[in-house]
Amino acid sequence: MSFISDIFKKKKVSALGIDIGSSSIKIVQLQKKGSKAILETYGELSLGPYSGVSVGQSTNLPVEKIIQAMNDLLNEKEVAITTKFCGLAIPFKASLLSIIQMPDIGQKELTSMVPIEARKYIPVPISDVTIDWSIVPKSEVVEDSSKEKTDKNKVKTVDILLVAIHNNIINQYKEIVSKTQLNAKFFEIEVFSSMRAILEGIKGPIMIFDMGASTTKLYVVDRGLVQNSHTINQGSQDITSNIARVLNVSTEEAEVIKRSVGMGKTVDGVDLSEMVLVIAGNIFAEANRFLFDFQKKKNKNIKSVFLTGGGSALLGFRDLAAQNFKVEVISADPFEKVETPAFLENILKVTGPEFTVAVGAALRCLEEI
Ligand SMILES: Nc1ncnc2c1ncn2[C@@H]1O[C@H](COP(=O)(O)OP(=O)(O)OP(=O)(O)O)[C@@H](O)[C@H]1O
Ligand SMILES: [Mg+2]
Repeated sequence: MSFISDIFKKKKVSALGIDIGSSSIKIVQLQKKGSKAILETYGELSLGPYSGVSVGQSTNLPVEKIIQAMNDLLNEKEVAITTKFCGLAIPFKASLLSIIQMPDIGQKELTSMVPIEARKYIPVPISDVTIDWSIVPKSEVVEDSSKEKTDKNKVKTVDILLVAIHNNIINQYKEIVSKTQLNAKFFEIEVFSSMRAILEGIKGPIMIFDMGASTTKLYVVDRGLVQNSHTINQGSQDITSNIARVLNVSTEEAEVIKRSVGMGKTVDGVDLSEMVLVIAGNIFAEANRFLFDFQKKKNKNIKSVFLTGGGSALLGFRDLAAQNFKVEVISADPFEKVETPAFLENILKVTGPEFTVAVGAALRCLEEI
């Protein structure tokens, strides 16, 4: 008997997903059990204190400080990470995505042609970036039948998803991995992690609304492809600053008040909703402009908006978003597909959106080890 259980024990596979955000590092450890993923542990470490700013504020730390913070999180007893296998998400801002059209000359020819063609689309020297690309499957390309007819005599084309990441970022991530003794299976741009965690089986077009500390990232995804993206230079830390200013309290205090009260009233009866709205209203307005622009250009309607990122964990945020978008608004639940202990269910419903990227990276890592 014990021999058999030993065999099963050895088969246990665990994997980490790591998201180094501007305000905090998020880590999730999943275990594979059959075809399921089980949540083993998860944790978050605020980077503010490593940078002399408060929790919830964005930072721009040198790589040594990130390594120090990462080691602190990996050694945190309460989080109790037990594996080194991991996948890391790379910030969207370090990347460049484009969909380019190429003649349908076959995989072999494309392998030499795409990097040459890519130069036209990448505004930095090609030697400064690492390029990856894949052919967009035909069923995922929207066919314009009227165009098809007129283009009949022209060469057949394929759509290529081109991804470029700055080499200095890749080198930074390699350094982080080696100095934390991690065993990284891959680096991927955070939007791909988010898509895996929250969009399985959803065709779209939909919009992901990722509200972080200093920015809010928008991605339009259709049939598994990022069709367009936009970064708004405002995020949840701007709400904190506004609360601090209006209530004349410190940023630390404002952060605590924001997280406990959200769109509601403090124990003293102070209504925060106006303080939130001043900032959130701007963000929704810009997001709506981006959404309408896409709809107009592509003549397609966005079906839903998926809210993610720590900023969207604000109490009452989903309802507020629902009032501001003309389409269905869904709070992303990255733990939906993951088996989680019953006692964590309520807390994960609230903190879930912060861990979307980390869960997505962990899911891929589970598949790759
Ligand atoms: N429960 C909560 N209520 C309100 N705001 C929250 C809550 N939890 C986290 N936040 C806010 O979310 C922000 C952090 O979100 P997140 O962790 O997604 O950002 P990040 O990944 O570090 O940033 P980025 O992706 O832009 O680099 C902080 O400003 C924080 O104050
Ligand atoms: Mg983030």
